[in-house]
Formats: sequence, structure tokens, C-alpha cells
Amino acid sequence: MSETNTKKRSLSGIKPTGTGNPHLGNYMGMIQPAIDLQDDYEAFYFVADYHSLTSMRDAETMKRSTKVITAYFLAFGLDIEKSAFFRQSDIPEVTELTWMLSCVTPMGRLERAHSYKDAVAKGVAGELNHGVFSYPVLMASDILIYDSDIVPVGADQIQHLEMARDMATKFNIAFGGDYLKLPEARVQEDVAVVPGLDGRKMSKSYGNTIEPLLPSKKLRKQVMKIETSSTPMTEVMDHTDCTAFALYKLFASEEEQAEMIENYARPDFGYGHAKQALFEKMDERFAPYRDRYNELLEKPEYLEEVLQAGAERVRPSVEDVMERVREAVGMPRRPSFRTK
Ligand code: ADP
Ligand code: TRP
Repeated sequence: MSETNTKKRSLSGIKPTGTGNPHLGNYMGMIQPAIDLQDDYEAFYFVADYHSLTSMRDAETMKRSTKVITAYFLAFGLDIEKSAFFRQSDIPEVTELTWMLSCVTPMGRLERAHSYKDAVAKGVAGELNHGVFSYPVLMASDILIYDSDIVPVGADQIQHLEMARDMATKFNIAFGGDYLKLPEARVQEDVAVVPGLDGRKMSKSYGNTIEPLLPSKKLRKQVMKIETSSTPMTEVMDHTDCTAFALYKLFASEEEQAEMIENYARPDFGYGHAKQALFEKMDERFAPYRDRYNELLEKPEYLEEVLQAGAERVRPSVEDVMERVREAVGMPRRPSFRTK
């Protein structure tokens, strides 16, 4: 541990969902950037199962989806020799810190969160469960409980990071000390918002996703569903306003992109060709990971061991922070804490 202890810490979480596997937006915006940080940072990544409870109502789906995400991270190269991958709920102290943060967070701050404001605009705010309203507090706790330095996420999570920093500051001021460390969002600009099949942000909730580790045939089927304009084949296609091209850019070299732009101007080149080219690029990129992913899914016990080992690995830093904040608010150290 002495080597990793000198490194700064990268932390992130991803919700298990009932509606499908992680999508290309999750992969490009969060999974791959997070994995890429594991050499230079001490990486702590988790499945945000408490967060999923705001909408998930099926225990079997929760379990299956947790394993799917774990297999994703491992297949894409998270190295569990040096990084931790764990289940959020295996660190129940995170809910304890959530309460402490709740008590220094003004309601007005939560009312200004995008998701809540959207609910107000739709006139359904009163029907939201309390978990949805207080979601950003749990997320702040997730981050602060590990003394995280950076948090790799897609652009849609920036507001949550700002809220986490605010809560840490409020707590530190309220109790008069530097108890909680202020984290920073790490957003990779070129993939901050990956577009989905319909051109809007790719998101489970819009049903416009492409799932990179699907078998080849199914992947092709999804790619072919990308919505394109109805420009007739003989007219010049506009690559600047084309989802297929926006996605192609994520996989192609500069020269390949230039070649594709020329293709768009050709009379014998249509959107079908553009989508086929995108599919081929994606298939080539993801094929090696697909087999590993499928093998891992066949080993649920192993995946469970990985999650448990991950929780063990992060536990000392949790106890460290909890001891600090409990002392700050006037609560004694818990006898069960193992550190020190
Ligand atoms: P969804 O919008 O499908 O519900 P999540 O909110 O579970 O996705 O996102 C998990 C992670 O993936 C977050 O860090 C988020 O910022 C990132 N992410 C999700 N969709 C995209 C996207 N279209 N482009 C870039 N990053 C994304
Ligand atoms: N809210 C994040 C999402 O919807 C998931 C998440 C929960 C998270 N806790 C986190 C991300 C802590 C980063 C850090 O994608």
C-alpha cells in the first residue's frame, strides 16, 4: 500500500439499471476515462446501488445489474491488483455521512438541482420520492467519504460535483476545521456528451443507447437505428449535423475522419454506408473485450469476491474520514473502527 498511498485518489460511481447494459456514453464519458486514470491515481470505483433504489424495485435486477457493471470494468481493464471496485452499499457509513451533510445543506440548494428543477417544470415535484430529492447529498457523501481528489464523470454530473464541494465547505465552516477534502470533477472534453441514436445525449432514460459489448449482429442492428436526415443519396450530406459522423469521430483517426468527410460529399455515398463504417470501427474496437466480458459474466462468485475485496480495500480510508467527522460533530470514535 505504501506506493499507492502517495498517489492522489480518483473516485467515481455508476448506477446499476434495470433497463440494460452500460451504453457507449457511459463507456466513453466515464468508464474508460476512469480506468485510464488507474496508473497515475489510486482508483476507487463503485456500483451505486443505493442511488439506484430511487427507482429500482426488483432485487434480482439489482443483483444482476451490479454484476454486469463489475464485469464491464474488469473486461475493459480495471486492474484489481491496484484499484478497488466495490458496491456502494458495502460501505454503509456512506449513509451516516449523508445525514451529517443533510444537516448542513440548505433545501434551496437541492431545489436548484437540475433533476429537481425538471420535475418542478413538469409539475410532478410532489410525487418524487425523498431519495430523488436528496440524491446529490448521497453522491456528495460518496465522494467525500474517501477523501477523493478527482472524480471522472461525464458533463451531466458537473453540477453534482459543485454541490459536493459546497457541502464539504459548509461542513468545514460549520464545525471549524478542514475535515472534508474538496474534490474536483474530471471531465474529458471530447466525450463529455456522447450523442444517442436520436441525436440527443445518449441516455438510458431516452431509450437511444448503443451498448458496445453486444454481440456483433446486435451491435450492427443498434448502429443502423441511428436517425439521419432524409437528404437523398445524390445530394451532399452534411457531416457536421450527423450523429453517425459524430460517433465515427470517436473511433477514427484524423485521416479516417478526413476521408469520411470526403465520402459524405460523394453522390454514391449514403447514410447506410456511413453507419456501416461506424459499425465496423466499433466492432473492431470492442471485439476483444466482448469475450472477456462474457467469460466474466459466467463467474458470478468471482465477481462477488472482487466486490468484497474492493470494499475491504477502501475501508481504512472510510474509517479515517468517519473518525474525523464524528469527532468534529461531537460523537465518539466507534469501537468497531479498525484503524489506528
Ligand atoms: P444515464 O444518463 O444513461 O442514466 P448515468 O447517469 O448512469 O447515465 O451515467 C453514468 C456515467 O456515465 C456518468 O459519469 C455520466 O456522466 C456518464 N454519461 C452518461 N451518459 C453520457 C453521455 N451521453 N456522454 C458522456 N457521458 C455520459
Ligand atoms: N450520480 C451518478 C450518475 O448518475 C452516479 C454516482 C453516484 C456517482 N455516486 C457517485 C458518480 C459519486 C461519481 C461520484 O451517473
